[in-house]
Amino acid sequence: MAPGVTGTTTKRIYLSPPHMGPAERGLLLDAFDSNWIAPLGPHVDAFEREFCETVGVLHAAALSSGTAALHLSLLMLGVGPGDEVLVSTLTFAASANVVRYLGATPVFIDSDRETWNLDPGLLKEEMAGCARRGKLPKAVIAVDLYGQCADYDRILAACGRYGVPLVEDAAEALGATYKGKPAGSFGAAAAFSFNGNKIITTSAGGMLVSADRSLVERARFLATQARDSAPHYEHSEIGHNYRMSNLLAAVGRGQLRVLRDRVSRKRDIFQYYKDALGELPGISFMPEAGYGESNRWLTCLLVDRARFGATREDIRLALERENIESRPLWKPMHLQPVFKDCRIRGGAGSEELFERGLCLPSGTALRDADLERIAGVVRAVCRD
Ligand SMILES: Cc1ncc(COP(=O)(O)O)c(C=O)c1O
Repeated sequence: MAPGVTGTTTKRIYLSPPHMGPAERGLLLDAFDSNWIAPLGPHVDAFEREFCETVGVLHAAALSSGTAALHLSLLMLGVGPGDEVLVSTLTFAASANVVRYLGATPVFIDSDRETWNLDPGLLKEEMAGCARRGKLPKAVIAVDLYGQCADYDRILAACGRYGVPLVEDAAEALGATYKGKPAGSFGAAAAFSFNGNKIITTSAGGMLVSADRSLVERARFLATQARDSAPHYEHSEIGHNYRMSNLLAAVGRGQLRVLRDRVSRKRDIFQYYKDALGELPGISFMPEAGYGESNRWLTCLLVDRARFGATREDIRLALERENIESRPLWKPMHLQPVFKDCRIRGGAGSEELFERGLCLPSGTALRDADLERIAGVVRAVCRD
């Protein structure tokens, strides 16, 4: 059922649906009326510029998806057949799929218990193991999970020691910070997503950012079918059709204007759930690392079955019966059938998080009454 469509009894509550306002509508109509209905145009240029200003990154290329941004990032770093790329295991499949697109092999790294992000200690161990075998990874992809930055000082130290470049998968973390610096400013390149469920959305879209101007310019070139400069169509390289449409960039510009409000509302939603449910036996929430501010894209909780008296799946099903969407945490990549042959360093941490973790509805348009309804269902599972 599409977002906004009424369910059988009560209106369905989705996990993190799009939240649009009048600015987006006005800009979209402007793009439409100007007839720039193409994967280029003035809104694309303006979106890139404004993204850099708002988010605090130096250079940006607006693309058709976050996956495209990750794919091009790896391409820029020269990842190819036979290479290995170290990737956080607790993530969405796109973080690892892009490694496969290039004929390389992902090697998974478990989560740190404190942040749920890539464990820098395990990364260091894996790097040392790779060095001993005489085959260093071609890149590392660290994911900023559910809107919280990974521990970049420690990750960059491990990468720097072996001269391995870092790609930041900041798809979920727009508006978050690490030691005062914005998500997306770590590593050789970073990827953001504007998929429909993200903190701001263009329905589908992504942004590749980097402090390296030439990397971003080359990404734009490859994303535009690698068209050489000539009056006819001339190609000396294989390109991709990865640019963002001018229509969607117009929507993105409007969404950027409310990014601060969205972060603040997401954090309030998190706080609401914590206050309402944090005292229940066996319930805990995703920790916020002392080094930064999460955008709390999704509020995630953990259920201790023995103390709570029910599992996270019992809660999910109880919510579903009330027409409320919730979702288990990402299933770790090393447990996915498609990656079953890949190496994993550690694994127990992310497996436990998957087993016990649930993402609650966190849409910024949720009203307080919706939050009360959701919390009421979780409380009732505990009482039963
Ligand atoms: C961690 C992570 N990486 C990559 C992506 C891919 O982004 P997109 O859907 O825009 O391709 C997503 C979300 O969709 C994500 O959550």
